[in-house]
Amino acid sequence: MGKKVRKESETSCKETFEPLPVEGKNPATVVLLLSSPEEDILVKACEAIHTFAEKGDENKVSLLGLGALEPLCQLISHSNKLVRRTALMALGIMATNSDVKSALKKIDVIPSIIDKLSLEEDVVVHEYATLCLASLSVDFVCKVQIFDSKGLPTLIQLLSSPDPDVKKNSLETIFNMVQDFQSRQAVHELGGIPQLLELLKSDFPVIQHLALKTLQNVTTDKDTRNTFREEQGFERLMDILSNTDFSDLHIEALQVVANCLNDSESFQLIHQDGGLTRLMEFIITPDITEIQSCAVKCIARVAQSAENRKLLHKQNVEKVLVELLSVSDVSVKTASCQAVSKMSFHLACKDRFRDLGGIPAVVQLLNNESLVLREAATHALSNLTHGNKLNAFAVYEAGGHEILVQQLCGNCAGTVANSAATLGNMAGQGVIRCSILSHGAMQALVEPLKSTNVQVLINTTQCLAMLACDTEARAELQTAGGLQPLVNLLRSYHKEVLHNACLAINVCASDGPTAVEMCKFGAVELLQEINQSVKRRSSVSKLAMTSLLNSNLSVKYSLTGHLSSTDIISDGFYDAGKACGGQRILSLEELSEQPVNQQRPIIFVNTAAEEIVDAPDESQSNELETDTSSKRDRRTSRTPLLDRKKKQKDETQPESPTEKLWKMMDDVSLQLLVKEVKESILPLSEEREQYAALARLVNEAMGGAVEMEKLHEFPWMLHLSELKFQLQSNVVPIGLIRRGIYRHRALLFKCLVDHIGLSCTLVRGEYNRAWNEVLLFTGNPSSNGSSSLPCRYIVDLMHQPGSLLKANTPAAVQYQII
Ligand SMILES: *[C@@H]1O[C@H](CO)[C@@H](O)[C@H](O)[C@H]1NC(C)=O
Ligand SMILES: *[C@@H]1O[C@H](CO)[C@@H](O)[C@H](O)[C@H]1NC(C)=O
Ligand SMILES: *[C@@H]1O[C@H](CO)[C@@H](O)[C@H](O)[C@H]1NC(C)=O
Ligand SMILES: *[C@@H]1O[C@H](CO)[C@@H](O)[C@H](O)[C@H]1NC(C)=O
Ligand SMILES: *[C@@H]1O[C@H](CO)[C@@H](O)[C@H](O)[C@H]1NC(C)=O
Ligand SMILES: *[C@@H]1O[C@H](CO)[C@@H](O)[C@H](O)[C@H]1NC(C)=O
Ligand SMILES: *[C@@H]1O[C@H](CO)[C@@H](O)[C@H](O)[C@H]1NC(C)=O
Ligand SMILES: *[C@@H]1O[C@H](CO)[C@@H](O)[C@H](O)[C@H]1NC(C)=O
Repeated sequence: MGKKVRKESETSCKETFEPLPVEGKNPATVVLLLSSPEEDILVKACEAIHTFAEKGDENKVSLLGLGALEPLCQLISHSNKLVRRTALMALGIMATNSDVKSALKKIDVIPSIIDKLSLEEDVVVHEYATLCLASLSVDFVCKVQIFDSKGLPTLIQLLSSPDPDVKKNSLETIFNMVQDFQSRQAVHELGGIPQLLELLKSDFPVIQHLALKTLQNVTTDKDTRNTFREEQGFERLMDILSNTDFSDLHIEALQVVANCLNDSESFQLIHQDGGLTRLMEFIITPDITEIQSCAVKCIARVAQSAENRKLLHKQNVEKVLVELLSVSDVSVKTASCQAVSKMSFHLACKDRFRDLGGIPAVVQLLNNESLVLREAATHALSNLTHGNKLNAFAVYEAGGHEILVQQLCGNCAGTVANSAATLGNMAGQGVIRCSILSHGAMQALVEPLKSTNVQVLINTTQCLAMLACDTEARAELQTAGGLQPLVNLLRSYHKEVLHNACLAINVCASDGPTAVEMCKFGAVELLQEINQSVKRRSSVSKLAMTSLLNSNLSVKYSLTGHLSSTDIISDGFYDAGKACGGQRILSLEELSEQPVNQQRPIIFVNTAAEEIVDAPDESQSNELETDTSSKRDRRTSRTPLLDRKKKQKDETQPESPTEKLWKMMDDVSLQLLVKEVKESILPLSEEREQYAALARLVNEAMGGAVEMEKLHEFPWMLHLSELKFQLQSNVVPIGLIRRGIYRHRALLFKCLVDHIGLSCTLVRGEYNRAWNEVLLFTGNPSSNGSSSLPCRYIVDLMHQPGSLLKANTPAAVQYQII
């Protein structure tokens, strides 16, 4: 602060006194003198305390300890003007110390300090009173006291005091006060804005800074902004910004500018007055880069509102941003990328940015060593390519996709997430997708799939779902070891992660091999767990489950008890019964290795016809070896599991469970049944007749018709136990079953129907019930010209074999339920 000419009155007062009688006395004595009845002693004591306190904080604390505060607080209201002034000077100096401040808080001194701000008091009193308030106002309680004691109006008046110290102290107090909402509004209501603007012209930088900081706080209020604008505040700021001598004020000025432009109404008016044009000019003028990056940040902030973006777009802000991308400073480039991201919400902006050549410029930044810049650049690209094919193509043409794939391997979570999001946006176009994949995207996505960062997981799984839309890509993911981490994401409790993981799994399940692999990693069990939670399950988790189960009908039937007419049973299918809640479905191999037990047998289906001519015989001569093995390969290619085990066979060892299973493959009876079906049923002309004939065939194969009342006499259970015992296995080939009931017959029916290209469902009921439903056109078409609606029928395989029971009729229901 500038040197001030001391006021005459003060000088003359000092001169009227004798040489200081208290000088040289110890502080304790001086403090005692504060209680003297003699005014001239009081004055001298206060002066001595002032001088002593000014020398340092230790002195202030010791004066506090000596009890100087209480008498000083009294003396500031003394009737003698000189006593008041010197006491206040002493108090002002002491109050700058934090211990003193705390002590003062407990004394109700603020109202009497505010009293001293009256116009009757001289400027020195004003100076020290405001100094006290400036010190005290950092404290919340004191702020409230100042406000309640009506200090603010006076302080605002004092902003136009001729004395710079008074100005500075008052301003500092106001700045402290406007940190709170109450005072922020009051400053504007009390007409403080013109005063604050006036202070911007001060010769003292400290006053200018404080004024700007105060304006920064108060212009967060909308009414204040209106007044600010009416008082030409924006022009004042622009004057500061265009004056290079004031570059130390530019950052603070820009913060105020950003506030002013925040609401669209102000923005519009400022724009009309050409304020925006001036601002753009300021931004591109080469200047101190810190200020430039702050200016761009200001733009980014302003671009948060949709209306502002529209105006900025009209003002061609994109051109400025593209130019700034080639400025050498990293922070300017970074801020520009951030502004581009914000502006991307405005659709037209994305196109203009591309037309101005901005996209290759951002792609270029992906190579920079600055992590922060790369993160901002990838973010800008993810926004620019969102829902914009031409931009996606521009990134592709600039070679951005290749660098983005590389970014997936980085350590910065934000960059990885943004890169994945961008690649996902780009993958919608086939050409680009192929190119992305050719740069190893699938391999690169595996690590991010193991991330613990939620954003990374969300974007990566989304990108994966976009990229994995052809068999080759899915195979690559599998080879790269990506399926396991993907399946593991089904453990996530994050809604979006889980959602996207399900989507990706759904896509990947379109191929048998990837679906099988995901099942191996426990995908079905995890999805079952999800299905049991009302919170976690969703339409996509169900979709993923369905897709996976469609690749494994044995598991599907076990879990859902329902195969639709489009689910075609093939060799290797097994019915292991209804799955117990949450349990893993064992493989056929595992089931066949279990010791024979009392439970229902597992029914196994294999129609492989070549077995008849090529009965496996390990003792065959060498010359036949190649022949058999090739046939065996052909056969077992449908069930790789068995083939693999077969090769391990050693003749000298006793039969292993796997061998038993392998032998069981030969279901000669089933093969004969299939043959008969093809010969006798396929040629029938009427569908209805085909189903009926097939039903009779199944009935005969499994022990003939059984009267409903005599069902309990039908010895099916004994028969199955015997089979298990003979085979020494819980797994029974369906063709061997000579006495079967609903469950066995319905499975055989479904199996034969699927084999000859008819269609039916297979539905599991309770207590060994199961049935098939077929769809037939009813009535006779000749009597009614229009073709009738199809009707659902339950096929009777048990009691009146071949009857078709119309669904939902009592007869049908009786067949389905005990
Ligand atoms: C007031 O402005 C200063 C910067 O001058 C800032 O640090 C502070 O957070 C603002 N206070 C409020 C309450 O906005
Ligand atoms: C600026 O506008 C945004 C939304 O448009 C709002 O969230 C923010 O609080 C505003 N800031 C100021 C200082 O008014
Ligand atoms: C990264 O940006 C800085 C600042 O613009 C520049 O000096 C540097 O050459 C850039 N690095 C690369 C590898 O492009
Ligand atoms: C830009 O990205 C952010 C975060 O990634 C996102 O919230 C926002 O919706 C995106 N905006 C546009 C226009 O794509
Ligand atoms: C991608 O990740 C970012 C975080 O970097 C996130 O804000 C954004 O919403 C994500 N984008 C998409 C398209 O999911
Ligand atoms: C999923 O849960 C529902 C309701 O609990 C159940 O009806 C359905 O069978 C379950 N689906 C599977 C595939 O487990
Ligand atoms: C079906 O699931 C079972 C049980 O998990 C498994 O052993 C079998 O290999 C799967 N089959 C196919 C074709 O995926
Ligand atoms: C044929 O049957 C359908 C449904 O049973 C009926 O709506 C339609 O009127 C009938 N048409 C004729 C020509 O009888």
